[in-house]
Amino acid sequence: MRFKESIALITGAGSGIGKETAIRLANEGAKVILTGRTRSKLDAVANQINQTGKVPRAEVFTVDVTDVEDIQELADYVQEQFGDLHILINNAGGNADGTILETTEDIWDYAQNINLKSIFLITQKLGKIMVAGAGNDHSQQNRAVVNVASLSGYKAGARFVPYSTSKAGVISFTKALALEFAPHGIRANSVSPGFVETPLIENSLENEKFVKTIQRKTALGRIAKPEEIANVIAFLASEDASYVTGTDLLVDGGWLIK
Ligand SMILES: NC(=O)c1ccc[n+]([C@@H]2O[C@H](COP(=O)([O-])OP(=O)(O)OC[C@H]3O[C@@H](n4cnc5c(N)ncnc54)[C@H](OP(=O)(O)O)[C@@H]3O)[C@@H](O)[C@H]2O)c1
Repeated sequence: MRFKESIALITGAGSGIGKETAIRLANEGAKVILTGRTRSKLDAVANQINQTGKVPRAEVFTVDVTDVEDIQELADYVQEQFGDLHILINNAGGNADGTILETTEDIWDYAQNINLKSIFLITQKLGKIMVAGAGNDHSQQNRAVVNVASLSGYKAGARFVPYSTSKAGVISFTKALALEFAPHGIRANSVSPGFVETPLIENSLENEKFVKTIQRKTALGRIAKPEEIANVIAFLASEDASYVTGTDLLVDGGWLIK
């Protein structure tokens, strides 16, 4: 029970990596706040979590992570309902393809807003609660931020410029955050998944050629399950990673080494 007594907030918790991370943290004792835009998806995950124990562990709050007013409402809710926050998982994100010459300003802005600016906004508003909760006594409770970046943040593809640029930004932002939050005893790290079976890439996964290419180019020869990324996020969020901050953990099945 690594997260007993912890309050954890996960963005994009209604599906994929965020859903599995929420389930994992709740199974290990955390009280989880599930956020995303689609209430029905969040409710389904919350019901799954709350069915397993006598005490409900999951709460739902709908929020668009690119909307600063929504985020302020979320921060006010967390402050009023819980009075503290120990674990923040910035997972919500979206795909945006395009070359430099083809990408429109709208697509560029979409990618930066959903993948990078959202993390800045959420961390600024929710981070204040984490810092206040840490107070002067940093030895008592594990506190951590985990941001979801991507293999694309390391390896830019010619056709994924808006996405890969935003994810490289997440890796860099996380290092700055680790420096800024270290004096408060709060760690910050990112995780960079390779290809993962989630709704984000489900259309591409219907293309046999795409799947075969990933299998060929990945040392482990397969696409990841979202649980395999959630395991690593949970590690970085936990006391087990108490001396890990400002790092990015690549979880790509050995794509980059091939
Ligand atoms: N799957 C992969 O191969 C892969 C690889 C590398 C990195 N990643 C990263 O992993 C993270 C999770 O993605 P996933 O693969 O698990 O895909 P996913 O199932 O599509 O999850 C993304 C989640 O983000 C939420 N979301 C999207 N826009 C939002 C917004 N404006 N405000 C609030 N929530 C929003 C979505 O819910 P709503 O639409 O209901 O809001 C959805 O639940 C993303 O950051 C993604 O870039 C994925």
